[in-house]
Amino acid sequence: MNNIISIKDLSFSYSGGVNVLEDLSFDIQEKDFIAIIGANGSGKSTLLKLILRELNPSSGEIFISDTNIKNFKEWNTIGYVPQINASNIPNFPITALEIVTLNLYQKMGFFKFSKRSHIEQAKRALMQVNMLDFANTPINKMSGGQQQRIMIAKSLINSPKILIFDEPTTGIDKESKNQLFRILTHLNRVHGITIILVTHELEIMKDNLTRVVEIKDKKVVVR
Ligand SMILES: Nc1ncnc2c1ncn2[C@@H]1O[C@H](COP(=O)(O)OP(=O)(O)OP(=O)(O)O)[C@@H](O)[C@H]1O
Ligand SMILES: [Mg+2]
Repeated sequence: MNNIISIKDLSFSYSGGVNVLEDLSFDIQEKDFIAIIGANGSGKSTLLKLILRELNPSSGEIFISDTNIKNFKEWNTIGYVPQINASNIPNFPITALEIVTLNLYQKMGFFKFSKRSHIEQAKRALMQVNMLDFANTPINKMSGGQQQRIMIAKSLINSPKILIFDEPTTGIDKESKNQLFRILTHLNRVHGITIILVTHELEIMKDNLTRVVEIKDKKVVVR
């Protein structure tokens, strides 16, 4: 099995306080669909931020596809879908299609017009999350579950190898949760995308996971 992410003896504390994570080691394999669970404050979000290099370890190392993340360059192959809340959803009337296409501008340069192929790409991404019908709907007129799916489409447009979610189901109803998990399972099984998510909703999705990882006492317990 190929490790897509390797974490070795990772310790971390916020600005010199006590360690939140301590000598934590574990590997994630290509095509894994992993849930990270643990009590409030156990360090789940901190671990995701360390993997995304938003925080730097106090000691230890993290590798993505055998490259130390200090030297890793292909961040556009890693999709991060943050928890949806009012502060990360634009409150102006940008449509689903526009917001998904935005992620392509990094590639095509900001001042070029969207070409037809880019619009087609964006529509494909919307189709993958069952949101094509909402292409021209402003995102601030959608429900939380619909916004969540638009944000997934936005990250899909760069053909990610890894998708990372922090509590994607907070504040969405049961049917939207089920739909979200169906989409994630499809992306994992059919498109081979490695999925890592922090969740408190293990029960409704455990059958589709390849592994559950618990953070307890600053370390990882693989269940
Ligand atoms: N920016 C910060 N500065 C200082 N301490 C922090 C900071 N962010 C988190 N912490 C502390 O680090 C610990 C781990 O927090 P973290 O957010 O990673 O937990 P979590 O497992 O994601 O919790 P939750 O389930 O509530 O989201 C907690 O004790 C928290 O108070
Ligand atoms: Mg958290």
